[in-house]
Amino acid sequence: MYFSFETITAFVGVFIVTYIIYWVKKPRISKNEPPMVPYKIPIIGHTLNYLFNAEKFLAECRQQHGDPFNIYVFGQVNTIVGNEIAQEVYRTDTFSKSSAMRDGDSFPLNRVLKILEYPETLEQVAKTIREVISAAKLPLYTERMQKQLMISINKEIGDCSNPKLIITANSNFSSMIARPVADILVGQEISKNEDVVKAFADFTKDFASILVIPPILSFIHPKVHSQVITLPLRFGWNPIRKHMITLKEHLRPVLEKRLKDKEILGDKYEPPLDIIEYLLNDPEYGTKVITDDYLNKICEFLFFIVVVSIHTTSRHITFALYDFAGRPELWDDIYEEQVRIDKECIGELSPQHINKMVKLDSFVRESLRTFDSALIPLPHKCLESYTFKNGMSIPKGRIVQTYLMDIHYNTTAYGPEPRSFLPYHGLENNFSASKIDKNYLIFGSGKHACPGRFLAVNEIKIGMHKLILNYHIKTPSGKIEEKIHFGPFVSPPVSGLIFENRKK
Ligand code: HEM
Ligand SMILES: *[C@@H]1O[C@H](CO)[C@@H](O)[C@H](O)[C@H]1NC(C)=O
Ligand SMILES: *[C@@H]1O[C@H](CO)[C@@H](O)[C@H](O)[C@H]1NC(C)=O
Ligand SMILES: *[C@@H]1O[C@H](CO)[C@@H](O)[C@H](O)[C@H]1NC(C)=O
Repeated sequence: MYFSFETITAFVGVFIVTYIIYWVKKPRISKNEPPMVPYKIPIIGHTLNYLFNAEKFLAECRQQHGDPFNIYVFGQVNTIVGNEIAQEVYRTDTFSKSSAMRDGDSFPLNRVLKILEYPETLEQVAKTIREVISAAKLPLYTERMQKQLMISINKEIGDCSNPKLIITANSNFSSMIARPVADILVGQEISKNEDVVKAFADFTKDFASILVIPPILSFIHPKVHSQVITLPLRFGWNPIRKHMITLKEHLRPVLEKRLKDKEILGDKYEPPLDIIEYLLNDPEYGTKVITDDYLNKICEFLFFIVVVSIHTTSRHITFALYDFAGRPELWDDIYEEQVRIDKECIGELSPQHINKMVKLDSFVRESLRTFDSALIPLPHKCLESYTFKNGMSIPKGRIVQTYLMDIHYNTTAYGPEPRSFLPYHGLENNFSASKIDKNYLIFGSGKHACPGRFLAVNEIKIGMHKLILNYHIKTPSGKIEEKIHFGPFVSPPVSGLIFENRKK
């Protein structure tokens, strides 16, 4: 079931009438706060600018008010932090993403994944990723990832002796990325199963369908928005139930077999390398018997990893492919590197060969840098009132958003034209795509920086390597396609990409 536009409109109407009386509230700003950008229309505040003119609006605010500043959107004050303050936010435990996710108004993930009610879940997920897929362990997965990506490429793109337009809209590449991720999450037995791969890919899409509703009702109170947005869930609609059933069904026999083998083989048991095996042995998530409750818990844990890994990675490989397809001047150079490496490894990439893709790596970094989202689409929430090093303070509960463009389009770091695409900037400065830097915040920073970044960059590189080797990739217009902007956020272009076999 989908939440139709009419239903939303009806609820909007009801709530507007009910709460109209609260509308004339004004945000209370104490003295030491970051400067509030002035606005003319009460209640609406800067919402229209935020929705329809974000890039220019934020640039003007930054210029006139410095860093940080406050804006008033959807009935809430948000603090926007740029180049100077962002580092402090990312390095201070007072600012929490998980809390913004848990009771955040636009990200009601805890409604579908109950384990997110527990604040420690995000930490456990991060720890699991850090331990199972650390940069040091990533080489162990190269062969598997490559195989799975090739299955996806052959299936989704296949033979293009005649040029083929591949639709990239609607997270269409998520199934490409879902396959290697499934392999790492649930192991080689289950990841062969098309239903499981589809469950992973579709879960991401289904969840995204609730996120696209803008937080209009937050004008009344942020809680109203999250209540309404999750109404269908409380009426029994659950976008993941069917995916959960699929996964549980396939997971149960595999986990049971592993427990049995372990018992029989004892020390001779050879633990498979994947996340379910890690969880089976974890003090917190381990078990001796596979009960239904246990399966639910593990499946939720796995689906949370699916949410944070597949959507992001597939979106960024899509952006990178558009960046490549729109820039014919780079094709030969990058292709030449891939052919050389392919000849060297005779088609079977080893981790060393992936390290040799230095031009491709630099290209991917630049694609991530020029991602072009004004704000990072993952806000922080201030857990208790906090005073910045510059003396300004913000209250408990404040939503803090990171002004990514201020950080990524820094003229000191990227020269006089920081918005232009500098494909070899990383190569020339010895910055790899997964390396965090004060002017490269796509994976966050500090101890909570994205632990999946090595995996994500590897998948994007292996995927692009294979695609560039096998196909000519062009945009339909022959030019750089426009990205799609939603307020301060951005999605890949929707023109599709044209793939054509290279002559071997
Ligand atoms: C291109 C793809 C990706 C991008 C752009 C991305 C971006 C981010 C960002 C910005 C954060 C917040 C960091 C911070 O607050 O400092 C984050 C956190 C996280 N990411 Fe990623 N990510 C990507 C892929 C992945 C993958 C593939 C995984 C899992 C395999 C993953 C797992 C996580 C986890 C578990 C966290 C929470 C870390 C913590 O709170 O300690 N991400 N990611
Ligand atoms: C993309 O979506 C179209 C339908 O919109 C589908 O036919 C096609 O197979 C999908 N391609 C990929 C790569 O998922
Ligand atoms: C660019 O970033 C550096 C390091 O964060 C900072 O010192 C510098 O002031 C920034 N430059 C501009 C023009 O904002
Ligand atoms: C490049 O960076 C890596 C890791 O960040 C470092 O080990 C290496 O020495 C650097 N190379 C040069 C030439 O600076």
